[in-house]
Amino acid sequence: MRMLNVTEFDKFAREVFAPTYPVIAAQIKEKSGITGGSCLDIGCGGGYLSIALAEITDLDIYLLDKNAEMLKIAQKNVDAHGLGKRVRTLLGDVHEIPLANQALNLVVSRGSMFLWENRQGAFQEIYRVLSPGGVAYIGTGFGTAELQKQITAKMIEIDKDWAEKVKDVTGEKSVQIFQKVLEDAKIPEFKITQDHTGLWISIWK
Ligand SMILES: C[S@@+](CC[C@H](N)C(=O)[O-])C[C@H]1O[C@@H](n2cnc3c(N)ncnc32)[C@H](O)[C@@H]1O
Repeated sequence: MRMLNVTEFDKFAREVFAPTYPVIAAQIKEKSGITGGSCLDIGCGGGYLSIALAEITDLDIYLLDKNAEMLKIAQKNVDAHGLGKRVRTLLGDVHEIPLANQALNLVVSRGSMFLWENRQGAFQEIYRVLSPGGVAYIGTGFGTAELQKQITAKMIEIDKDWAEKVKDVTGEKSVQIFQKVLEDAKIPEFKITQDHTGLWISIWK
């Protein structure tokens, strides 16, 4: 799959994916039950998911991305929402998260795990930074079947193979691949769900 550059991805995030972020944020709040403490958003991009999450919780959120340009966009968005006191950007890589052991109550990530080079190491890092009682919610999706339908209709005008590519990364094969990654990473308690909300991995510590 051709990688989008930062400006291209952000344009899609703002113009096409935008309605999905508040829906996914509400699903994360409901499924994790965590509404306060510290949160990390890995591969945050423009920060849209975490801005939506900050607006419905009291979480303090770190926006982590390895791309400094992406983080500049995220910082601008955080400032525009007046969330600078609770949401801060952090340059870094999921393979070496620049935070202490057990620092976080919640770890979230959307649309990034498929890009991680060492997935087993990445999930071990996520487990390391989760506090006991913490939850991670990692995956990808568009919130609801209806939103996925609307977004697919827009995206196939730009890339006719888009639906196939999404199916490829969220399909049954991906479930099996991540099942093995998490087992190899020795994550004791996790669940992979694949439904109208997308492909999501929940981890409990
Ligand atoms: C497809 S974008 C998703 C952005 C955002 N989560 C969203 O849903 O709008 C993937 C993001 O993951 C980041 N990323 C990729 N590999 C990473 C890594 N190893 N560590 C941290 N961030 C990474 C990219 O720079 C990019 O911003």
